[in-house]
Amino acid sequence: MNTIGLLWTSILLLTTDASKFQVYQEPLYIEATEGETAHFLCTYNASHDQVVGAFSWHKDIKNGTGDAKVTNKSAKFLGRIIQVDRPSFRTNGNASIAITNLKQDDSGIYYCQVILFFEEEFGPGTRLTVKCRQPLMSSRRSLLWQMILTGLKLAVFSVCIIITISLAYF
Ligand SMILES: *[C@@H]1O[C@H](CO)[C@@H](O)[C@H](O)[C@H]1NC(C)=O
Ligand SMILES: *[C@@H]1O[C@H](CO)[C@@H](O)[C@H](O)[C@H]1NC(C)=O
Ligand SMILES: *[C@@H]1O[C@H](CO)[C@@H](O)[C@H](O)[C@H]1NC(C)=O
Ligand SMILES: *[C@@H]1O[C@H](CO)[C@@H](O)[C@H](O)[C@H]1NC(C)=O
Repeated sequence: MNTIGLLWTSILLLTTDASKFQVYQEPLYIEATEGETAHFLCTYNASHDQVVGAFSWHKDIKNGTGDAKVTNKSAKFLGRIIQVDRPSFRTNGNASIAITNLKQDDSGIYYCQVILFFEEEFGPGTRLTVKCRQPLMSSRRSLLWQMILTGLKLAVFSVCIIITISLAYF
């Protein structure tokens, strides 16, 4: 085999090897409350010497644009994305992110995308549900109101009884 042939075979082997990687996401469901942080773990199983590569995350649509891109630069996630550093991505196959200060409309499906040697793979997606923060103060206040209301009802009831008895006896 000549040098050119050998080169082509190597490139072919490299690319076919790279195309066989798989992307894993964990967990598949996250339930959180407004203001909390959600951790989206993502890994891929390609060999460690894959230097050419990148990862990104997408909300609801795998190849969407604008707000579908989960980055610090998107208006929706501005400054709320924490992600693993390059060495972790390259040597540990780690493409995890976290979203801080969760909002209710962050709810949706988050897809991890890994690109190696021009080959892209997506993870299965993690479904995030962000619940409303429990309004503790207002529930306490409503409890107080309920007690006052019950007290008032009792007072009115007692006055009615007293008037009825008074009318009946005098
Ligand atoms: C990754 O895992 C998949 C499924 O188990 C396997 O088919 C593939 O060969 C693996 N790739 C590498 C680079 O280990
Ligand atoms: C990306 O979007 C195009 C249309 O805009 C669609 O044809 C294609 O299937 C999409 N790819 C993925 C991976 O969702
Ligand atoms: C996004 O912005 C926050 C706040 O400025 C910062 O802590 C974080 O490291 C940034 N994330 C990335 C991936 O640059
Ligand atoms: C990937 O990185 C995240 C965040 O730093 C960490 O919590 C997780 O344990 C790492 N996973 C692996 C398999 O290294």
